[in-house]
Amino acid sequence: SKGSSDFCVKNIKQNEFGRREIEIAEQDMSALISLRKRAQSEKPLAGAKIVGCTHITAQTAVLIETLVALGAQCRWTACNIYSTQNEVAAALSETGVAVFAWKGESEDDFWWCIDRCVNTEGWQPNMILDDGGDLTHWVYKKYPNVFKKIRGIVEESVTGVHRLYQLSKAGKLCVPAMNVNDSVTKQKFDNLYCCRESILDGLKRTTDVMFGGKQVVICGYGEVGKGCCAALKALGAIVYVTEIDPICALQACMDGFRVVKLNEVIRQVDIIITCTGNKNVVTRDQLDRMKNGSIVCNMGHSNTEIDVASLRTPELTWERVRSQVDHVIWPDGKRVILLAEGRLLNLSCSTVPTFVLSITATTQMKEYDLFFFNFFLFAAYVASLHLTTFDAHLTELTDDQAKYLGLNKNGPFKPNYYRY
Ligand SMILES: NC(=O)c1ccc[n+]([C@@H]2O[C@H](COP(=O)([O-])OP(=O)(O)OC[C@H]3O[C@@H](n4cnc5c(N)ncnc54)[C@H](O)[C@@H]3O)[C@@H](O)[C@H]2O)c1
Repeated sequence: SKGSSDFCVKNIKQNEFGRREIEIAEQDMSALISLRKRAQSEKPLAGAKIVGCTHITAQTAVLIETLVALGAQCRWTACNIYSTQNEVAAALSETGVAVFAWKGESEDDFWWCIDRCVNTEGWQPNMILDDGGDLTHWVYKKYPNVFKKIRGIVEESVTGVHRLYQLSKAGKLCVPAMNVNDSVTKQKFDNLYCCRESILDGLKRTTDVMFGGKQVVICGYGEVGKGCCAALKALGAIVYVTEIDPICALQACMDGFRVVKLNEVIRQVDIIITCTGNKNVVTRDQLDRMKNGSIVCNMGHSNTEIDVASLRTPELTWERVRSQVDHVIWPDGKRVILLAEGRLLNLSCSTVPTFVLSITATTQMKEYDLFFFNFFLFAAYVASLHLTTFDAHLTELTDDQAKYLGLNKNGPFKPNYYRY
């Protein structure tokens, strides 16, 4: 690059292409850009040294560049070995952000990149932005002295938050941590609406499958599962749901889905999609019973939901038919189509809607403000920043109405326990 050499990406020469991608993303992330403009001169994040581990896409680049514009120093790595947009990583590196990431990293590369972000001479992070908890765990285990000095962790995923709670319960979490995942502006939008749009895109791009009349089973009817079910139902698929939680199972019933055990439908379904955040939801025994030509993929956590490791046995042949598409072939000739080796389908094989990520990224930005300035955070504020995009006009409470409901006219409009 023209500037620093403190980065490792696939090809720095792609930086101009990456810059154009980031500029396209900026157009649909107006709320983040307006936050950037509003606070740029004050540099509210001066002194923040942020080490980040997220998907490296044009949308996260807008977040990273906003953090930098507000005064933060950033070093960044990828939370998923397949999801990095190489050209975007190049564009970020060219502007001086230390990025260590490329699409198609090996497991060893993945940990090396994380280590290079944390372990560098003359720079020590004081903030962590994590998606999945791998970075946090690495710092906690390998660099306990650095960990102790961290001022705050912002964690985005269900799984990462779960790992933080485990640390906290064991009395080992000595650092304040913010749970972005449970903020309503993340959960409803990133998990539900984002997955509702990107599940179809991921499946189409990889397999060209037609959805009408296909039998699909969605494992888990949480936010991600609800989004996937809605999209597939709308295109005429016959959708089954598996659940462990009676409340979510009942919601699925009310929404018109048959709730089944995976074993009841395993021989007949065309597509299995896991969305549970759990592990071994689809086992080798079940994969053995799937029919020829069926598709199996994951929209939930990491690569643990489908027991992919169990498919690496000598009697099964793996055939790479397209990028991120493997045919696993049984001795009798039966093929199961495995997408992205069981990693997140939408993030590995398609792009995700920029606007939704703008909402999550703006939420993350506000979390940083909180750590540094204790600003009063409203998820409603993040939402309202995005309403202008739709020329949506909010109704204002009259004084009389506000008094009647016992609310401040400027919100919050719901009690803390309200579930959106
Ligand atoms: N692909 C994406 O873009 C994307 C976006 C957001 C979140 N996620 C990930 O998706 C996962 C789910 O997120 P969520 O917000 O829907 O969580 P959630 O907790 O709302 O939903 C998960 C559901 O799975 C159910 N479940 C757990 N184990 C199960 C099992 N063995 N069989 C059937 N159901 C089971 C739970 O009862 C729960 O209802 C998380 O790992 C999250 O990090 C992915």
